[in-house]
Amino acid sequence: MDDFDQRRAHRRSEELFRYHTEDLDRPDSFVLFDKEWVLLDGVFSPAVTPATRLFTSWLPYPAGGRFLEIGPGAGVTAVTAAVSGCASVTAVDISRAAVENTRRNAELHGVAGIVRARHGDLFEPLEESERFDLIFWNSNFVETAPDAVNETELHHAFYDPGFLAHRRFLAEAPGRLAEGGRLLLGFSDIGSWKSLRRLCSELGLVIDVLRTERLDLDDPVELQLLELRPR
Ligand SMILES: C[S@@+](CC[C@H](N)C(=O)[O-])C[C@H]1O[C@@H](n2cnc3c(N)ncnc32)[C@H](O)[C@@H]1O
Repeated sequence: MDDFDQRRAHRRSEELFRYHTEDLDRPDSFVLFDKEWVLLDGVFSPAVTPATRLFTSWLPYPAGGRFLEIGPGAGVTAVTAAVSGCASVTAVDISRAAVENTRRNAELHGVAGIVRARHGDLFEPLEESERFDLIFWNSNFVETAPDAVNETELHHAFYDPGFLAHRRFLAEAPGRLAEGGRLLLGFSDIGSWKSLRRLCSELGLVIDVLRTERLDLDDPVELQLLELRPR
């Protein structure tokens, strides 16, 4: 990523972050996929960018299979996976508010028995033996300096200092897949492609771009669904 891309990434993420923290009219619910969803304070809002809607509608949910979502936020993707026929959905978020939000929306949509929401850092709250047919993270793809600190839970929705969470995700996720399982990442052209490429090359992973959509903003941004496969 060159300096221009870095500036673009930070401009866009700061704009989104400000919306989440300064908009006094931020609604406590929103409608998506013809459903009403609860939105708690401090949780990434699926109503502000099309990212949640696009990734949720693009994912190849394994019917009858096990889906792991890292970072469910308000829980739209996790609930949709359950409604779409996944036998079990595990959703792990580093934000306590996001975990509570996912539980609330799973209850609201009648899938609390399928969606298991856990608080924690990536794979840390899972049993060692658990394996999944699909693992997905709509990640905090804006890289900040390695010594930067995510001061609030909401910072984790946007920023990954030193791309260290991505490093751990890419290193550990392949070992969490069942045979034939797939590893997908919700990313963007303002994400740190330079670090992503370097990490994948170090870890022996190949990146396939499955789908993209360009958002018609003043400064256009492309959302990208990526698949990571062993080389
Ligand atoms: C871009 S938001 C996406 C939220 C939701 N999936 C959506 O599409 O609306 C990224 C999510 O990842 C979570 N997250 C960031 N770092 C994490 C980590 N190390 N472990 C678990 N969740 C993390 C954030 O708290 C946030 O909920």
